[in-house]
Order: sequence, then C-alpha cells, then structure tokens
Amino acid sequence: MRKLTYYIACSIDGFIGDPGGDGTAMIRFVDEEFLAFLKAEYPETVPTQGRRALGMDDLPNKRFDTVIQGRASYDLALKEGITSPYAHLREYVASRTLQESPDPNVEIIADDLAGKVRELKAEEGGLGIYLCGGSKVAGELFDEIDELVIKTYPLVYGTGMPMFGSGFAISEFALESVRTFGNGALARRYSRKR
Ligand SMILES: NC(=O)c1ccc[n+]([C@@H]2O[C@H](COP(=O)([O-])OP(=O)(O)OC[C@H]3O[C@@H](n4cnc5c(N)ncnc54)[C@H](OP(=O)(O)O)[C@@H]3O)[C@@H](O)[C@H]2O)c1
Repeated sequence: MRKLTYYIACSIDGFIGDPGGDGTAMIRFVDEEFLAFLKAEYPETVPTQGRRALGMDDLPNKRFDTVIQGRASYDLALKEGITSPYAHLREYVASRTLQESPDPNVEIIADDLAGKVRELKAEEGGLGIYLCGGSKVAGELFDEIDELVIKTYPLVYGTGMPMFGSGFAISEFALESVRTFGNGALARRYSRKR
C-alpha cells in the first residue's frame, strides 16, 4: 500500500500562509542547511523550476512519484506560465472547474477525489504520494492521510490559512522523527495511528 503524505510548510501556530494562503514569509528559512536537508531527504518536493535553478535536476525521486494539488495551489504555477510544476512526478490536480488539463503530465480529478486517492494508494510498487495542499484539499483528504511531514518555521502568524480546511476532528499521530535547524526551523514526521 502506497502512503499519502501531507508535506507542508507552516508557522509555529500551524498556519500554512497568511489568510489568503501566502506563505512567502517562510521562504527565508530555506537556507543552506535546510536546502541540504531537502536535497538529501525530499528532493522531489522542490518544484521543477526550483530544481533547475538549484542544480538539482538530476536528483532521483526519493519518497514520492506522484503529487496531488488543489486547483488554487496549482493556479500559483499557472499564473507564472508553468503548466507542469512537478514535471518529475505524476501530477494530479483536484478541480471541478478546470474543464481540461493545461498539460499532458497533469490529470484533473473532478469527481470522487478520495476514491481516486484510494485507487492510487492501492497501486502496486512505486513510491509514495505527495499531498502538496492546499488547505481545502488537505481537509477533503484528511481521512486518507497516512503521514504528515511538517516543516515548521519560527514565525507566528496570529491568524492565517490552517493546515486543514475541515471540520473539528481529533486524530492521533505518532512522532517518527524530528530534525532541528540552526535557524530555528523544525521538520517533524508523524505517522497516523489507525
Ligand atoms: N505552506 C505550504 O507548504 C503550502 C503548500 C501548498 C499550498 N499552500 C497555499 O495554499 C493556498 C491554496 O489553498 P486553498 O485551501 O485555498 O486551495 P487548494 O486546496 O489548493 O485548492 C482548492 C480547490 O481544489 C478543488 N477541490 C477541492 N476539493 C475538491 C474535491 N473534493 N473534488 C474536486 N476538486 C476539489 C477546488 O477547485 P475548483 O474550484 O476548480 O473546483 C477547490 O477550489 C495557496 O495560497 C498556497 O500558497 C501552501
């Protein structure tokens, strides 16, 4: 069974961005030490353009071969003229409004998102599935999430876009690893207790 991992950047108080979802204030914590961690552990989570700029184009995928995004998150790439932001992965975008995919590498999921994710998880072999966000899609897929990788940057937003745009529900996760960085960032990995 392949795992669905919600891999996300957030503030100390658990927001993935400001109220509109903008998380650019966190980018400054991606320094040399943090980048070395990304390159070693999660190279495929860096978008294709960034990989090119950072000379990481040749790094093989380590944990994920598939990515799922909500349409609002995908829009950020489209606005830059990028139709395949994770060209090194199989890309799925959840949307009921995008009539057709702007790129041959991107498949639109319009119906039964959770069912499609269960199908992907049931595929034989391969690597895991990277749930990229945003908040709404993570909320919709909450029950399917097997693992959380939370990159926490030393910022408090006060309010903002929550990790999950879903209703109140308490679920328990087991802490698998913690990595701390000189600049105050943390990367924690949790697995779901089923
Ligand atoms: N901090 C981080 O690491 C991080 C990572 C990713 C994203 N973000 C931020 O998250 C923000 C976007 O998050 P968001 O919550 O506004 O939106 P989102 O989850 O990215 O996308 C929401 C859209 O996904 C589609 N969707 C949702 N549920 C669906 C379902 N069950 N079936 C089919 N389509 C479905 C709908 O698209 P249609 O309206 O087209 O139907 C919906 O409007 C961005 O601002 C981005 O910066 C932050």
